[in-house]
Amino acid sequence: MSVLPIIHESTDELTAIFKDLHAHPEIGFTEVRTAGIVADKLREYGVDEVHTGIGITGVVGIIKGNREGPRRIGLRADMDALPINEETNLAYASTNPGVMHACGHDSHTTMLLGAAKHLAQTRDFAGTAVVIFQPAEEGLGGARGMIKDGLFDRFPVDEIYGMHNWPSGDPGTFGICKGAAMAGASFFDITIQGKGSHAAMPQQSKDPLVIASALVASLQTILSRNVAPLDTCVLSVTQIHSGSAYNVVPDTATLAGTIRYFKDEVCTLAESRMRELCEGFALAYGVQINIDLRNIFDVLVNDADLSDAYMEAAADIVGKDKISSTDEPATGSEDFADMLKVIPGAYCKIGHSGTTGLHNPSFFLDPEILPVGASIMARIVERRLAA
Ligand code: NI
Repeated sequence: MSVLPIIHESTDELTAIFKDLHAHPEIGFTEVRTAGIVADKLREYGVDEVHTGIGITGVVGIIKGNREGPRRIGLRADMDALPINEETNLAYASTNPGVMHACGHDSHTTMLLGAAKHLAQTRDFAGTAVVIFQPAEEGLGGARGMIKDGLFDRFPVDEIYGMHNWPSGDPGTFGICKGAAMAGASFFDITIQGKGSHAAMPQQSKDPLVIASALVASLQTILSRNVAPLDTCVLSVTQIHSGSAYNVVPDTATLAGTIRYFKDEVCTLAESRMRELCEGFALAYGVQINIDLRNIFDVLVNDADLSDAYMEAAADIVGKDKISSTDEPATGSEDFADMLKVIPGAYCKIGHSGTTGLHNPSFFLDPEILPVGASIMARIVERRLAA
């Protein structure tokens, strides 16, 4: 078996949808046009129920199989774009300045539409398929927003599957990492309230820049001296803001950054050590230091058995030689993790011929993978609801 026939016949349509979405990218929670197209297409394909406005701009479609069955499979795609100015020169490049589908979520949306079309027109399964189009994956909490808005109470599923395009230069490869596959993430903001002065008379100041510099270095000791060597943890200070003149010691300095981890207890340890270091620095330097820590993504954990099931479904489409379960865990994060925290399932990467990295203004996604990804998503439903 290769690409499923109805999806194969729909290649031109899917490519047109993809290019249209690519030309009209929308930032998380403002995917009004995208969600409208998704809902219209689902209705056109004969999906039984289409629900909109879940988690602000999320869309859910329900497709009943032609055989009765109690089991329900969820498929999820993300719809949002990034605040990046596109530099691709594609004929269908973004027409929305400063916004770009640089992570390929336009392809994920299109592939799930393709899967929905196949499932709605063939219905060769026992039970229910639930197609979930999620807003705001890019650090804005779209998955949590949909869950909070009753996603799985209103549309319960027993298993859930998601997919991300991968610019590997190797089209049609299917990769999965069983267990903890992508890092959880916290973001932090630290404010050092010191005391300003003339830069030539620093003895009158409590210089927040000197304190900030020392704090950045000390925070790294959490990784080298607190987290166990065999546990993975990243702590990156990505912003320091302070000062506006050559001859003035500023009052305040702010720092911001992110923690990445694969075990919740490692995150708890890193966060509590950060708080202790901030308290200790405040005492040592006689200043006030406030820290705001926010958990943004859970650790993405792929269920081992369902990862195997996903690989078998993918093998039906791309062949056994293109399947791999030896992907390394990634320190990047993905908010499908928040769905996998409540529903068992699996998340895979699908390779394409593009080679420019995700989140790059020159990112290019090869539309040839659209029917492949769509077929794999449709196939996992047929396999899991075969009985
Ligand atoms: Ni993405």
